[in-house]
Formats: sequence, C-alpha cells, structure tokens
Amino acid sequence: MKIAILGGSFDPVHLGHLQMAHQAKKLLGVAQVWFLPTKKTPLKDRQLTNDQDRLAMLETALAPYPEYIVCTLELEREGTSYTVDTLRELHARYADHEFFWLIGNDQLEQFDRWKDPETLVQLAHFVCFDRDGKSKKTAYPIRQIHMSPIPVSSSEIRKGKKLNYLAPQVLDYIYQHRLYLSGFLEERLKPKRVAHSLSVANLCEKFARAHNLDLNRAFLIGCFHDIAKNMTESEMKPWMEIVCPENMRYPCPVWHGFVASEIVDRIFGIHDLQIRQAIYHHVLGTSTDPYAMIVFCADKLDPLRGYPVQEQIALVEQDLSQGFWMVKEENQKYLEGKE
Ligand SMILES: [Fe+2]
Ligand SMILES: [Fe+2]
Repeated sequence: MKIAILGGSFDPVHLGHLQMAHQAKKLLGVAQVWFLPTKKTPLKDRQLTNDQDRLAMLETALAPYPEYIVCTLELEREGTSYTVDTLRELHARYADHEFFWLIGNDQLEQFDRWKDPETLVQLAHFVCFDRDGKSKKTAYPIRQIHMSPIPVSSSEIRKGKKLNYLAPQVLDYIYQHRLYLSGFLEERLKPKRVAHSLSVANLCEKFARAHNLDLNRAFLIGCFHDIAKNMTESEMKPWMEIVCPENMRYPCPVWHGFVASEIVDRIFGIHDLQIRQAIYHHVLGTSTDPYAMIVFCADKLDPLRGYPVQEQIALVEQDLSQGFWMVKEENQKYLEGKE
C-alpha cells in the first residue's frame, strides 16, 4: 500500500495540514495519509504543547476522514526523534508499504542538515510541496510538486489569528482545555492587562465553583472580558457603529465591553450567548445573569489591583447577589468620586 507521511508538531492541526493531505492523496495516488506528530523537533526550540493535547486535536480533526490515520510512533519513542530512525522503524513494522514523506519548501532548503540525508532518500520517496510555484535546487532526488497553499500557520493560530482555519471541534477542544489563551491575550493586550485578565479568569472560576456554575465558561469570560481594552477610539468606532450604535452615547472607556463581546464571537469563534452577554455588561454591571455578576465582581475585586479584597471576595463566594450589589455600590461611589 502507498502511504504518504505528513510529519509535524500539529500545535495545533489546522485546515492547511488537511489541505496538504487532500492534495497528497490526489497527486501521489496514495491510499492513506499518516499524520505523524513529532515529540520534539530537533531544529525547533519552542516548547511544544503536551503530546496528549496535540494528539487529541489531531484525532478530532481527522475523525471525518477514515483514510487519514494518526501515527504515534514518534510520540512513543523516548528522547529526540530523527526521521531516519522513524523511517527505519516504519520499514521494520510495515515491510509491504511504500512510503512518501512530505516536506515543505523550508525543509527542502535545509535538507542537508537532517540526519543521514542519503539514507533518508533511500528509505522513502521524499516529496516537497512547494507553495510558491518555483522549483528549488536540491542535491537530493526529491520530487517537487506545486500545491495551492492555504495561508495559515500554527504559530498564527497560537496568537489567536485565523481561528476560522481550525476544524470547529478543534477550536472547542482548545477552549475546553484552555490551550494558547495567554498567546491570544498577549497578541492584543499589554502585559499588565494580560496578567489582570488571567487573574480575573481565575477569580471568575473560583466564584463559579462556589455557585455550582460552569467553571470553564466563567474562566473564558474572565480571560476575554478586556480583550478590546487596548483598542483606540478610532479602532473601536467601526465595531460600535455596526454592533450597537445606540451605545455610542456612553463615554469611550465603557465601549470596550460592547466591542469585546462582538470580538469574542467574530474573531475568537466563541458563540456562547452567556459568555458574550457577561462580557458586554462587565463594565457597568448592567445584568444580573449569574455569569455577568461573577465577572463584574471578579473584575473589580482582582487581587492584582492591590487593595484589600479578601472580605468582599468571601462575600461574593457566599452570596452572589448580595456580593454583586455591594461591589456595584462601591463602584458607584468610586465613579462618583472620580467625577
Ligand atoms: Fe473592562
Ligand atoms: Fe478588567
């Protein structure tokens, strides 16, 4: 059987990877594509997301395609994995298969840095999918095929960009397991605001636990509540005009809640209405939905703000409604004082 092998860190797997598999199947006539998640890439230093999560996302993404298989051979092996060892192992295990190893342009250019390149090209047909239509010079017998690329990379996704290039179930998994969230925040917020957001997320979770609410929903609300906070007035304006022009009468510092509730939906693919509503109301505390009360309190009682909050946190844990009105009253006094 002809098998194409697509190695990668799949951190996370996205539609660009699937596109590569679709094209390998079509252009090389292989019966199956095996996705081979790497344990640790010798040429890359970045700390990978743990194996279990990357594997679970791969399995979820590949579930609709029976001819796409996850091969865990490199994950099972201890220490650094070299392709040459993997290919030897594949030959030993599956003597009847013919392997096509897929690589990208970037890997073609540094192929001589791989371990034992001469042996590699004897163990498998190496196929380079070039993305720009230009063949590259190489000293090795590597076939080059043009592929129409999907313009997305895992590193963009880890920064919260192009999330629409993920299978919806993979995005769900990311939120359920809280992967990459710091990266999502760091791309849009200053470090202090990132720390505040994560601290509020933890406090939201603590309050949710005390009141038997969904922990992850509460955590995500906290995470994203200030996602629009570093946007300028002119950046927020078009959002406001489309989403809630009636709210433009509020002073600009209040807008970030309205804009954030739309950004989590349209950019971050979070369509949960309770999450969006809680974020929408977090600045003024204008909703008594339990999640909205939780984030309003957690935002004002964030321990990182540096004033004593333990008593008030305890009150919110004990009685959400009472705690909410107390925090709201204090906030009102503070705003009046400020005015
Ligand atoms: Fe805020
Ligand atoms: Fe905040």
